[in-house]
Amino acid sequence: MHSLLSRGNALVAYTLTLLAVLTSLCFLTTVFLDYSSSASINTVKVVVKNVPDYSASREKCDLGFLTFDLQANLTNVFNWNVKQLFLYLTAEYSSAKNSLSQVVLWDKIILRGENAVLDFKSMNPKYYFWDDGNGLRNNSHVVLTLSYNIIPNSGFLPNIVANGEHIFQFPSEYTAARV
Ligand SMILES: *[C@@H]1O[C@H](CO)[C@@H](O)[C@H](O)[C@H]1NC(C)=O
Ligand SMILES: *[C@@H]1O[C@H](CO)[C@@H](O)[C@H](O)[C@H]1NC(C)=O
Repeated sequence: MHSLLSRGNALVAYTLTLLAVLTSLCFLTTVFLDYSSSASINTVKVVVKNVPDYSASREKCDLGFLTFDLQANLTNVFNWNVKQLFLYLTAEYSSAKNSLSQVVLWDKIILRGENAVLDFKSMNPKYYFWDDGNGLRNNSHVVLTLSYNIIPNSGFLPNIVANGEHIFQFPSEYTAARV
């Protein structure tokens, strides 16, 4: 009965159970924590152009340009079950064509142990702010928010929107200048 094989089996089973228990504990001790935090977002420069898009028809669409300030202290979001944060800045607006458009303008990964205090001034977005029509010019309600995905060692992947949005408007005229 107590062959080497069955001892080996028992050891593997024991180890796996132990790992599962530890993983669950790791998850349970952090699942109810508050991962919320706040961000301060501001736009510095905002202009809009009307330029041919990349499609075959070369239809003219609105392309927004902005620079932004962003401050947030995400130190408290990190605990021993948080491996990294995936941050992203989203612009949300509605237009005559779409009731809701969401555009991700910028993102960043913060690894555990890295500086989690953000203090950016006059940042350029990483991604283009295209509208699929003429929904940006004179749009008076564009909402910027900072969100983060928590990448844990085990358990859920909470997706959180930081408190503190910034609402801005695009100018009523297109700019012809190079930006
Ligand atoms: C960020 O938050 C942590 C924890 O609350 C605090 O110890 C630290 O001083 C804060 N840093 C800044 C720059 O506000
Ligand atoms: C911009 O919007 C305002 C109010 O939403 C409107 O009164 C104005 O005529 C618009 N301007 C242009 C140039 O479309």
